[in-house]
Amino acid sequence: MRIDILTLFPGMFQGPFNESIFQRAVDKELVMVNIHNIRDYTHDKHHTVDDYAYGGGIGMVIKAEPVFEAVESIISEVYPDSDGRDDLPVILLTPQGRLFRQKIAEELSGHSHLILICGHYEGIDERIREHLVTDEVSIGDYVLSGGELAAMVLTDTVVRLLPGALGSKDSARDDSHSTGLLEYPQYTRPEIYRDWPVPQVLLSGNHGQIARWRRQQAILRTLERRPDLLDKADLGAEERALVEKIQGS
Ligand code: ADE
Repeated sequence: MRIDILTLFPGMFQGPFNESIFQRAVDKELVMVNIHNIRDYTHDKHHTVDDYAYGGGIGMVIKAEPVFEAVESIISEVYPDSDGRDDLPVILLTPQGRLFRQKIAEELSGHSHLILICGHYEGIDERIREHLVTDEVSIGDYVLSGGELAAMVLTDTVVRLLPGALGSKDSARDDSHSTGLLEYPQYTRPEIYRDWPVPQVLLSGNHGQIARWRRQQAILRTLERRPDLLDKADLGAEERALVEKIQGS
């Protein structure tokens, strides 16, 4: 997978992408991430990327030209023989976008190429939204000072889903949200820490019992913390009955 990120603050991406699972995915050549400075696509002496808003108001607006030029230059470099790609997601990170969820990460991880545009300041020229961007994503109902952190969140979430990104010891299968439920509790050695023992069932060696306990814990935990998720979760008839019983009591 190739991910191109357009930003006014390329320095912000220095640390987070050089560590851990992400770095491993880069080393294994599962992903290539290119950070582009939008300022490099300006042509005036002052490298102007923003300007006053038509109609007045406080704050500056990111200009259309450098953003269009950056995206078009990436597309013509990657796809020299075609004049566009209908299925290439060009995603604007903005609090106005659709709310980012594991489902969206799974959907995006199926693409071979993503272009992410980090918004900033008070806004971005609406023509970028109308004629360049194919999708808008928000990582939550709060306002960041720019789209960079959101782009990192999206990139991290998508990259760890790429086949081979997680080592054989890790797995995305049981992750919170990937099953529609929150993940069950986990324990490691020692068996008793201070006065707190590990649940006996996990020491039993009975894989069937352990799987059932984990599933039940995931359901109970979701019920307790995020009951809103349960409506859409894939529960068996018995599990659904258990949830309804607890909810009714
Ligand atoms: N830019 C500013 N706030 C944002 C958010 N919540 N999600 C995505 N991009 C943003």
